[in-house]
Amino acid sequence: MNLKQTVLSELIDNGKVISGEEIAKKSGKSRVAIRKAILSLTEQGFKIEAEQSSGYRLISSPDILTPEYLSLYLPNDLPLKFYETIDSTNSEAKRLLSNGEKAPFVVVAKEQSGGRGRRGRSFSSPEGGLYFSLVLKANEINSVELVTTATALGVAKALEELTGEKVQIKWVNDVYFRGKKAVGILTEGFINMEFAQVEEVVIGVGINYETPTIPDELKDIAISLYPKQDAPHKMVEALGLTIKNIISTLNSDFLPEYKARCFVLGKKINVIKNGESTPAIALDLDEKAHLVVQYENGCVEHLSSGEVSIRF
Ligand code: BTN
Repeated sequence: MNLKQTVLSELIDNGKVISGEEIAKKSGKSRVAIRKAILSLTEQGFKIEAEQSSGYRLISSPDILTPEYLSLYLPNDLPLKFYETIDSTNSEAKRLLSNGEKAPFVVVAKEQSGGRGRRGRSFSSPEGGLYFSLVLKANEINSVELVTTATALGVAKALEELTGEKVQIKWVNDVYFRGKKAVGILTEGFINMEFAQVEEVVIGVGINYETPTIPDELKDIAISLYPKQDAPHKMVEALGLTIKNIISTLNSDFLPEYKARCFVLGKKINVIKNGESTPAIALDLDEKAHLVVQYENGCVEHLSSGEVSIRF
């Protein structure tokens, strides 16, 4: 922790007045250095009251993303790579891995200039959204095949806690809020060429959290949770909670809960393959989280990936 982070952590943890002397003792830094850190925090929008005799008290915190602030909400010991702007957090995560960075770590950006979606699509990523790639060692995850499914559930649970509203999943991994897509997930494997096997998984998540606008062409299908940027929980809290939920879901027996939130089950759907759409019914989810569908000719298929849409 750098000094600014230690000071912020003390102020947040305490919620009460903390003396400069106390912080100096804990951090091993001078009171002048602490005053400088406090001033810098004030400039970032933290309202800190300085009481002559007793010390400092945090009055309110801004809804900003800075590495010092965010780190306080991340799981212990999860290294953070933070960027104001990056092309894509998933691409950066893979570049870091190529350069020898060791998992686990998380890449977070305030905005992406080339956010990537599934099937080569782009992912609109203006400021206000939450964009991150969580990088984990493949051999430390229960099931690499189920990473995407677990991530969708982890995100859905976090958003439900944050919004107090029901959050559902459209198979495979689109997270829906008020009937529209609020989150995109792109999971990629990082392959060790020597052994030709997936060594790390890069779990990319983009949440339209306080995204002020949704592109016109997506307005019918996508939604921002708090377009007026009035979320009851700050972006740092939302990011921290989401990442913690993904990690805990990955290591749990999560399929029953996923199934309960998966709103395509039992519905008439279209299965979209190679641009062609075939009517079917979504019967169930199997133990690999494959979607069991029955076509109109009676044939049953277990879909491992792909896209479906609801028929009305
Ligand atoms: C989709 O819905 O098609 C998936 C979108 C995934 C977007 C996230 S944002 C963070 C990470 N970085 C990327 O470039 N993509 C993922």
